[in-house]
Amino acid sequence: MARHPTDHVLLIGASGMLAHAWIKLMDERGIRHTDVDIPDFDLTREPSIVKHVDERYTMVVNCAAFTDVDGCETKYALAEKINGTGVGDLAKRCKHVGALLVHYSTDYVFNGQATTPYTTDDTRDPINAYGKSKALGEELIEAVAGEHLIVRTSWLYAPWGKNFVLTIARLAREKPTLKVVNDQRGRPTSAEHLAATTLALVEKDARGIYHVTDGGECTWYEFAQKIVELAGAKCDVHPCTTAEFPRLAKRPAYSTLEIIRTEMKVGPMTPWKENLKSVMERVTGAGK
Ligand SMILES: NC(=O)c1ccc[n+]([C@@H]2O[C@H](COP(=O)([O-])OP(=O)(O)OC[C@H]3O[C@@H](n4cnc5c(N)ncnc54)[C@H](OP(=O)(O)O)[C@@H]3O)[C@@H](O)[C@H]2O)c1
Repeated sequence: MARHPTDHVLLIGASGMLAHAWIKLMDERGIRHTDVDIPDFDLTREPSIVKHVDERYTMVVNCAAFTDVDGCETKYALAEKINGTGVGDLAKRCKHVGALLVHYSTDYVFNGQATTPYTTDDTRDPINAYGKSKALGEELIEAVAGEHLIVRTSWLYAPWGKNFVLTIARLAREKPTLKVVNDQRGRPTSAEHLAATTLALVEKDARGIYHVTDGGECTWYEFAQKIVELAGAKCDVHPCTTAEFPRLAKRPAYSTLEIIRTEMKVGPMTPWKENLKSVMERVTGAGK
């Protein structure tokens, strides 16, 4: 009997923000899944990959990553293993057992110098260690050439985990004013929307690279203004420049991902203000 990708899913990085959305989604849809994370499952150790990824699985969803962008600058060897070579080993193993590999990547594989949205065919040219390690992961998956779907996304948020929305909502309650950078432009992405859109892509047989974000775009400052408004907080948000907030890793100034290819496959992406409203209702308890 033919196997379907969602017959039995192995979810890697199960304690992370996006993985949480996947678990919720698969439970709602009645999809059988097995969830693993470090230390049991370690992407940096090939024997661990071989032990956990076996013929039972029809699809492996890799939500694991070294996501601390500044941390990747000082711990590049580890970042390269988790986001790069470990992903290559995972791709080989998925090909061996006949499982579809769904993997997440980032807008940071681009250099941020564009003025129009980055397409899936644009050349990778990362400007920081995190982007470099994630670009390597993409390249190795392509080189292995097993059945795969690479989903690039950006600016992830959810009612759980560590993310910009929860940080700004907390700071807005604690402080009378906030300064937020207004010279980096991109697309926020609800983790729940991302998981559901990825599943829709899988079900429509999308393979190769796709971009998935919320609809619309903004700067971090505009994003923060909306978060504070929805939080109902009395906090003034002021725009500032990236130069005023030096960070270890360089950030691309423009990282808007082109989503037309995805929209043609699965329909329009929900605007970020709508997805943010749904998340903020749960963060503030207003949706109860
Ligand atoms: N967050 C964003 O804004 C963003 C933007 C663009 C793309 N992405 C991509 O989207 C995906 C999901 O991101 P996320 O924010 O949900 O990630 P996350 O919350 O940081 O979760 C990543 C998970 O991977 C685990 N992990 C770390 N090292 C591992 C290893 N060696 N082996 C196995 N698991 C390991 C982490 O465990 P510990 O917590 O114990 O380390 C954590 O549970 C990633 O591929 C990321 O690169 C994220």
